[in-house]
Amino acid sequence: MVDLRGQYDKIKSEIDVAIQECINSTRFIGGPVIERFAENLGEYLNCKYVIPCANGTDALQVALMAAGLKPGDEVIVPSFTYVATAEVIALLGLVPVMTDVDPEHFNLTKDIIRQAVSINTKAIVPVHLFGQTAPMEGIMELAAEYELTVIEDNAQSLGSDYTFSDGKKQKAGTIGNIGTTSFFPAKNLGAYGDGGALFTNDEELSKKIKMIANHGQSKLYHHEVIGVNSRLDALQAAVLDVKLKYYAAYIKARQAVANYYDQQFGDVDEIIIPQRHEKSTHVFHQYTLKITNGKRNELKEFLKTKGIASAVYYPVPLNEQNAFRGKGRLVGEMSVTKELCDQVLSLPIHTEMDHTTLRYITDQVKSFF
Ligand SMILES: Cc1ncc(COP(=O)(O)O)c(C=O)c1O
Repeated sequence: MVDLRGQYDKIKSEIDVAIQECINSTRFIGGPVIERFAENLGEYLNCKYVIPCANGTDALQVALMAAGLKPGDEVIVPSFTYVATAEVIALLGLVPVMTDVDPEHFNLTKDIIRQAVSINTKAIVPVHLFGQTAPMEGIMELAAEYELTVIEDNAQSLGSDYTFSDGKKQKAGTIGNIGTTSFFPAKNLGAYGDGGALFTNDEELSKKIKMIANHGQSKLYHHEVIGVNSRLDALQAAVLDVKLKYYAAYIKARQAVANYYDQQFGDVDEIIIPQRHEKSTHVFHQYTLKITNGKRNELKEFLKTKGIASAVYYPVPLNEQNAFRGKGRLVGEMSVTKELCDQVLSLPIHTEMDHTTLRYITDQVKSFF
């Protein structure tokens, strides 16, 4: 699905120097490399505070802890997402309220969330799935109406631009109270191991986040609140800081692949190509088709015989996972989520795809139909 080796080969000299410098300095935990990366990422996102942490799941957990939620408080999430989004909610004794998603863009909307709000609702976690920002203007309006905290799970859409109706643009993850991301190696901005970060423009929240991610510590050996140990290590920050320089080009490369796929699949009756939201750019963490003739699994098997990777994100929605049995509240029939779980198929998309490979993949997919 990705070609991390090919990507590394192109920037090997810079990456190797950055890693070696880090080893020479022996500043493995904390220090200037991490600070520089956080600053550069903040500049790219136009966000005041970037707090790196150990992974995207921790980022969500720390965000929920910083939001001051109490056990029993409800947090609205889409049911069509990766487990991490809701896992941390349940872990903290909060109640995940699982909702359906928009059939075209697979994200939460203001109207979907409105149906899920109760007097116990305290927060919303919109997930910017597959590369597009959820419709944040409406979501922020609704959050203001019900005084809800908004934590954007931006593990998949770093760099996506959202345009408000007054023309103002903001990057995904910097619109709500707190945004989170993951630097898992296969993510659009991937480390060479685990990593994550939180974003906020609120100074008070940024202080809380920093404290919680560092054992609830205000100064050395003085602990104000119960926290966690969640740090991005310096070697990962060194790698990420090099890759950040190429990030805009990486997004363009993914978009070019998506455009080619769109052209090739646009007139195949049994395929629905990814719908682009008019308010959001798409950074194509995944290129996800809907296969409407009930043959998604057969196509996947067929592609495997041709040496082509594909993946189903996600085959089972949150509301059907054993782990959440009795732990959340469900809203509605989840008919869209159910259909998506049966229909979606993601094809390889990454920064190193050449024309021959693309041609081979599209020819094989078309030959199946
Ligand atoms: C939507 C979403 N949220 C959270 C995460 C968790 O990130 P991590 O694997 O870095 O903990 C992921 C990563 O797969 C994700 O896709």
